[in-house]
Amino acid sequence: MILRKIRSDHEASLNEDSIEAAHCYIFQMKLILSSLLLIGICLPALAGKEGVAEDFGLLDHTGQFHQLSYYHKDPQTKGVVIFTHGIGCPLVRKRYEDLNRLNKEYASKGIRFWMLNASDQDERSDLKEEALEYKVSLPILDDTTQEVARSLDIDRTGEALLIDTSSWKILFRGAIDDRLTYEKEKPKASETPLKNAIEDFLANRSIEVSHTEAPGCLIHYPTWKEHQGKEISYSQQIAPIIQEKCADCHLKGGIGPFAFSSYRKVRGWSDMMREVLMTRRMPPWQADPHHGTFSQDLSLTPEEKQMLLHWIEQGTPRGEGEDPLAINERELKPWPLGKPDHIIDLPAQKVPANGIVDYRYTFVSSPFEQDTWITGADIHPGDRQALHHVIIYIVPEDGKRRRSRRWLTGYAPGVKGSLFPDSTGVLLKKEERLLFELHYTAYGKEVLDETQLGLYLSDESTKHSFRTGLFYDDSIQIPPHDRSFEWNQTREIREDIILYSMNPHMHFRGKSMAFELETPQGTRETLVSVPQYDFNWQHTYVLQKPRRIAKGSKLTLHAVWDNSDRNQANPDPSRRVPWGQQSFDEMFFGTYQYVRDRGQALPEELLSSVK
Ligand code: HEC
Repeated sequence: MILRKIRSDHEASLNEDSIEAAHCYIFQMKLILSSLLLIGICLPALAGKEGVAEDFGLLDHTGQFHQLSYYHKDPQTKGVVIFTHGIGCPLVRKRYEDLNRLNKEYASKGIRFWMLNASDQDERSDLKEEALEYKVSLPILDDTTQEVARSLDIDRTGEALLIDTSSWKILFRGAIDDRLTYEKEKPKASETPLKNAIEDFLANRSIEVSHTEAPGCLIHYPTWKEHQGKEISYSQQIAPIIQEKCADCHLKGGIGPFAFSSYRKVRGWSDMMREVLMTRRMPPWQADPHHGTFSQDLSLTPEEKQMLLHWIEQGTPRGEGEDPLAINERELKPWPLGKPDHIIDLPAQKVPANGIVDYRYTFVSSPFEQDTWITGADIHPGDRQALHHVIIYIVPEDGKRRRSRRWLTGYAPGVKGSLFPDSTGVLLKKEERLLFELHYTAYGKEVLDETQLGLYLSDESTKHSFRTGLFYDDSIQIPPHDRSFEWNQTREIREDIILYSMNPHMHFRGKSMAFELETPQGTRETLVSVPQYDFNWQHTYVLQKPRRIAKGSKLTLHAVWDNSDRNQANPDPSRRVPWGQQSFDEMFFGTYQYVRDRGQALPEELLSSVK
């Protein structure tokens, strides 16, 4: 079980406006169920058929996300050329200029150029260096697992593929031209097969020459080779991965739409598993693995991904051994963080069968006779289908001064409860009250929701108060049809702090978001980058090791929205989109959680996991 272990105490860092923003942030935290439906439909089925490209999503050398199906039937992108890349291969380096030239000539005519690097020996940092040194202007897609290259039947670098974005057919596969071959080079090409194929395609002619030899360097596929001819064991190799990385959500009563509870279930879902793995849709963890290490990272390692994909290619053999998924058939634990020290029953809420249910607010006085440090909070939803989200604030007795509202925790489907990091907490004074904001969605039958709040407490008399810093800008105006609209905000950090976690937040049009740090010495670093932002998943990115950040450093939140019809979640591409609390409006919003740095020791392992 991976724990989400953060929450915050807004306290001093919030002013009235920002409280509004924070408030709305959780509001928005999960419109999951409605918007989940938007994802997964509308995308073309690109199964690995002969001569047809399969959909994939990859990050490039700069950390940007590219997905083939984004360009499906795109009037601006008739075709995609993929050139297979590898560092050190002369037959690749000598092509950069050709590719830049072709890109210049054909970009405006609807041809997009990508390089694809599947070389086992090349790392992201190598790609960056190469791009810098040779002034490569095209994205170099980093195929870490080599599975995209394999799905496209690529065995050498230096080959170009032309893919029709309407039919996904691979129309051409071969050399750019005949100028280069192994150790030999002509001053000028006499044949230009790639260019000819592009011209034929743009003129709606059948491609005269659809295949040529392409000299290049062989790509080594070590893991694929290792798995070939040796049956992957379901019980020892596959089921443990699913148990660890998928079954926390895909279990009975969980938020995944089905349970991986036996071999039969896994086999039945295996083709779909391939699709979600190839496109980076599942597991739902969108952070770029090259920036930061996070404590509740849901992602698969490249090796795990390869194992699953190769097992599916082997035809999902059952093999010997017991079925760990069936044996341990798990059910959702009501309190995954362990039994709370104190449970508060919320006043039961009747949810009608139909219609829009207004937000409801209810107060509960502090159940404690003295000021109490809360070290964690978790919500046990009564009716998971009806309860859309809950936000819990701590408010003074009279509840009037909004300025002194402090955030305790929030719940929405997919957001787990949290224990605050060791030695930190949120103080609930004896005269204060908890304010619950409840949002319900009607789902066809009248139900009574009996939600509970579990509190984890500490006897210690002093803790470091957990705080939340905010980025927000309500002046945003996102132009209609814009595929990539950027916005930045920079804040100076005014005191030494210890940073624990970050939450990027946008709505349906969110495309990517990143937190960047610049130290007083001028060193820059990306703390977290979410290149494939998905509104369904409002993760808190909790640093594996909390970070001391010196006074005078600058934090920047960088956002990009996609307000075009390419964005499958976009409700209306023709609209100029302002700031707003509803998810059809937008937000430039991010929070970061910290404590003041008083030179206190940071325990080696602040974040213990609880099974
Ligand atoms: C944090 C929770 C979570 C984790 C972890 C998770 N899933 Fe999912 N999964 C979901 C939810 C929610 C959906 C429904 C998404 C939707 O409707 O678009 C889903 C849907 C799917 C689907 C159906 C296709 C789709 O997009 O709807 C497949 C297949 C799938 N998951 C496979 C996996 C695999 C394989 C893993 C592990 C490697 C995994 N999931 C991990 C929550 C999760």
